[in-house]
Amino acid sequence: MIDFDFWSPTYIAFGKGKESHTGGLVRRFGGTKALLHYGGGSAVRSGLLDRVKSSLSEAGVAFAELGGVKPNPRSSLVDQGVRLALDEKVDFLLAVGGGSVIDSAKAIAIGAANGGEWRRFYVGREVKVKPVIPAALPVGVVLTIAAAGSEASTNSVVNLEPENLKRAAGGDILRPKFAVMNPEITMSLPPFQTACGLADMFAHLCERYFTPTKDVALSDNLCEAVMRTVVEEGAKVMADPSDYQARANVMWAGTLAHNDVCGAGRVQDWASHGLEHELSALYDCAHGAGLAVVMPAWMEYVHSADDARFARFARNVFGVGAGETDAQAALDGIVAFRRWLKSIGMPLTFAELGAKEEDIPLLLKTLNLCGNTLGGFMRLDENDVSAIYRLCV
Ligand code: NZQ
Ligand code: ZN
Repeated sequence: MIDFDFWSPTYIAFGKGKESHTGGLVRRFGGTKALLHYGGGSAVRSGLLDRVKSSLSEAGVAFAELGGVKPNPRSSLVDQGVRLALDEKVDFLLAVGGGSVIDSAKAIAIGAANGGEWRRFYVGREVKVKPVIPAALPVGVVLTIAAAGSEASTNSVVNLEPENLKRAAGGDILRPKFAVMNPEITMSLPPFQTACGLADMFAHLCERYFTPTKDVALSDNLCEAVMRTVVEEGAKVMADPSDYQARANVMWAGTLAHNDVCGAGRVQDWASHGLEHELSALYDCAHGAGLAVVMPAWMEYVHSADDARFARFARNVFGVGAGETDAQAALDGIVAFRRWLKSIGMPLTFAELGAKEEDIPLLLKTLNLCGNTLGGFMRLDENDVSAIYRLCV
């Protein structure tokens, strides 16, 4: 295990009706006036937004509001949000939504605390060390989809316009103060979005599980347990979207997959996320769907660097490859992973995603490695990245 610092301060309020605690939580974490930020309408239609507003009013928290966050959140709305936050003098950002809303709120929180400046903290693979974010307003979350894990993560991903570059900011300062998580709220998700969430949280575990670090038994076992849970409970959710207990297990799995409890003390990979972000920037596809195409292709390309680890994945997560050589079990595991993705309705190829082989040079250009490499399991250069994209075709 390698040395690490780990700080995961997000207060989790989990269960039925917990959104009625939102106002009290904003107060508890110092908010007196919040910017209420939400997406394209699901929270309005479900009545969730009204319940959250009532809770704010009951707790005496004033608020301004800004809806309209799109999946793969755009910088223009962040700019609008920063202006509003400064004009309204809010001291808290309250995101009601999924990863896109939370990430947009995090960006506004940075801008509002740094005199409007937020964009320069969003960078890609062209830089080796991410800029340190000096300040951010506190962010709270009412989560509506189990997926990105942003409710407790250090990250924010925004699509920078007009260049259309999907770039990330990171730092402990971006960890939300609290996350309200009521699994019932996720029951209104379309099956495709539920499945995208399952693919994304599974990928967050893979990015940590596939590591060159030795002697990480605890986090290996944690990763495998959460991956099995995503597969097993995910199947129940896909079969019966109103299965509360399965929704609850999946929702908590999404947080544990990405708050880094499963990644502490190990080198992590993140190449597949790097490759995917270029796809969702160019085609505006769902992040989880992009990962479903990229991640198995990445596995095919890199598994021979450590077949024993991939064989362990096959045997302990998907229950395949017993009695086989490690090399064969590794391949069986990748087949089983693709079969699972297909079973929940995820695309597996560029064509199914709406991506085009002829765009690969453009994807490499926007990835902009600048001679740097991608990935902690195996260091990938531009040629490797291009080869992996070709395996997706
Ligand atoms: O906008 P509304 O109308 O709310 O619709 C959303 C959206 O269309 C809908 N939805 C959400 N909750 C719903 C619902 N529909 C019905 N009922 C509900 N309860 O779902 C759609 C997708 O929402 P989005 O927020 O985009 O989903 P997700 O949580 O998957 O977030 C994806 C974004 O997070 C980033 C991704 O790159 C992508 O931009 N990520 C953020 C990370 C982080 N900050 O740590 C890590 C991830 O790896 C990821 O990169
Ligand atoms: Zn992800």
